[in-house]
Amino acid sequence: MAKNLIIYYSRTGENYVSGKVKNLEKGNTEIVAEYIQKAMGGDLFRVETVKTYSADYYECIKEAKAELRAKARPELKSYLADISDYDNIIVAGPCWWGTYPMGVLTQLEKLDFTGKKVFPIMTHEGSGLAGSKSALRKYCKGAKPGKGLAVRGADVEKSEDKVVKWAKKVLSV
Ligand SMILES: Cc1cc2nc3c(=O)[nH]c(=O)nc-3n(C[C@H](O)[C@H](O)[C@H](O)COP(=O)(O)O)c2cc1C
Repeated sequence: MAKNLIIYYSRTGENYVSGKVKNLEKGNTEIVAEYIQKAMGGDLFRVETVKTYSADYYECIKEAKAELRAKARPELKSYLADISDYDNIIVAGPCWWGTYPMGVLTQLEKLDFTGKKVFPIMTHEGSGLAGSKSALRKYCKGAKPGKGLAVRGADVEKSEDKVVKWAKKVLSV
């Protein structure tokens, strides 16, 4: 059976949900990552930056924009060094200004993806998969790109069936 690794970033605190700022006690992407693990098995790796982002939504979007512009690679609390045990690597994150938070790229650039299948997942408030597919093509050198999944953050609680359906279809082959 294929072995899955879910690399994800998710932030708690204020976020933009259906046109309003709302406090999230658990991040949307974390919920999606757990749906996949529950349905398909595999390991979760949470990307956590040393520097924390503001819990205030408007502050956080400023911080994230500055990092994107600077092509920052924020330091992480811990790193995955080796993914040789896995067949499928799912890279899940929130859409931040059209792509993954920069900390996800810090991690991806350190790994050897030769021969692995990679699948983008993005939670978002309207941008869909946005730049996640192209980011994986660029940063997961040697990987085979698989079909991705976009989940609207506001709908995450009612999206388990959709996530499981996607996971069974793309990860079982
Ligand atoms: C810094 C920041 C930037 C964002 N940029 C976008 C964006 O460009 N497009 C979009 O659809 N949603 C954007 N959002 C909304 C998030 O992608 C969405 O709420 C996501 O589900 C949050 O996931 P999380 O709770 O796992 O962190 C942004 C949110 C933040 C905090």
